[in-house]
Amino acid sequence: MSVATVSRPAVGSPVIGSPAVGSPAVGSPAVGSPAVGSPAVGSTVVGSAVATSACATGLPAVVGCDLQVPLVDGTSVTYANLDVAASAPALAAVADHVAELLPFYASVHRGAGYASQVCTSVLERARTTIGAFVGAREDDVVVFTRNSTDALNLLAGAVPGAVLTLDVEHHATLLAWRGAHGHRVLTAEPTVDATLEALREALAAQPTALLAITGASNVTGEILPLDEIVAIAHSGRTRVVLDAAQLAPHRRIDIAASGVDYLVLSGHKLYAPYGAGALIGRRDWLDVAAPYLAGGGAVRTVSTDGGTAEVSWSPAPHRHEAGTPNVLGAAAIAAACRALDPVLDDAVAHERALLAALTEGLAAIPGVTPLTIWADAPDRVAVASFTVDGVPAGLVAAYLSAEHGIGVRDGKFCAHPLLARIAGGSDAVRASLGLGTTAEHVERLLAALRTLVTDGPGVEYAIVDGRWAPASDPRDHDPLGLGDGPVAQGASCGE
Ligand SMILES: Cc1ncc(COP(=O)(O)O)c(C=O)c1O
Repeated sequence: MSVATVSRPAVGSPVIGSPAVGSPAVGSPAVGSPAVGSPAVGSTVVGSAVATSACATGLPAVVGCDLQVPLVDGTSVTYANLDVAASAPALAAVADHVAELLPFYASVHRGAGYASQVCTSVLERARTTIGAFVGAREDDVVVFTRNSTDALNLLAGAVPGAVLTLDVEHHATLLAWRGAHGHRVLTAEPTVDATLEALREALAAQPTALLAITGASNVTGEILPLDEIVAIAHSGRTRVVLDAAQLAPHRRIDIAASGVDYLVLSGHKLYAPYGAGALIGRRDWLDVAAPYLAGGGAVRTVSTDGGTAEVSWSPAPHRHEAGTPNVLGAAAIAAACRALDPVLDDAVAHERALLAALTEGLAAIPGVTPLTIWADAPDRVAVASFTVDGVPAGLVAAYLSAEHGIGVRDGKFCAHPLLARIAGGSDAVRASLGLGTTAEHVERLLAALRTLVTDGPGVEYAIVDGRWAPASDPRDHDPLGLGDGPVAQGASCGE
């Protein structure tokens, strides 16, 4: 792969070159001032030309920043989306780019037509853009996947030996390796220093092909010192895969400088929710591994001369991309990378300022207990999980939605072992912030929690279809008019 040069500081770790925690936003207008250099949401393409104060963070706008949502009392309010870590809204620039591409939509790799050739070139250029965004080496490959889970499972099929993980991981990073060449799970220690020491000992004790490690915890946002981890792993000839699902949207990453061998990311967390993700990294394992899926697009030649199918597989990335590729998804991630790259330092500062307000505010509310993994994490993306004494997490989340128009996550966040250890196995509430988050969203959440712990919820709640909800809920749950018949609850992260 050839990696395009985009102007980026040479950084050896995800955090170098960013302002200190809690420092004010650099180069970005104060929250609430008019948007600078960001397209009006949707503009002609997305369909609602709006730039209300809810959209005006001074950073690139996200689609839906002015979304009005109904409350249980019959009024409505601008949505405070504090569930960005689960799935981030699309950047307006991403939605615009996808709309611009749609008239050209045609088959990729197989068509001689003009539109097919445009789509093929968009897909192949997307690899270069995404590789550059994470600082990929010249000879790294970028394989398109559905998401991070898919990318980790793909890599699991290519690892030539045992895998080590910490117990803090999202299930995607914890479970992909089962049944491979051996998988060990190490319980993280209460401090980062002790955890690094435990990793060093575990890697010295047994030959390990791969260390799979979180870029930023999806439960607490905490970030481990990446350079030190890579040095520990490489001293024992262990490769490192970085689960950057939560890190890539919120920190500058340079895998070449840090020495990370593989990285996975999800488009839907990177403001590009069009169904694609990526695995980026060293070619050798991927070129010899069995294709992730068998089928068209992954082969050089096929013959059935001997009565069975004889195949000569393509090298990576196409070897692992059988079937028609998701060109819109790939183009969307590349568009997000182009939009984020020039503003990432400002975005980091914006999110740090909001996280400081959130963590201080949460710590000051009696009965609210924030969750942390380590006492000394050197950095943290804007994710905060907490419990509220005497109030089930699901009820807190339902109350925030029904009475305050705030979207948060509740449960165990696909990190059951971690929640068992740091929350005594109980569910928690998670607020996560991003580009579209404003100070008003954070203030609204804190005010709502203060009201909850002093006065309780304003209406009655009950468990309806397995989830907490207002006992009487007049809100229209079908604003798109798709029909109001029974809807099966989708899969969740378990109980
Ligand atoms: C840290 C982390 N890793 C991996 C994943 C899996 O991402 P996806 O569901 O997009 O595959 C998530 C999703 O929440 C995550 O937070």
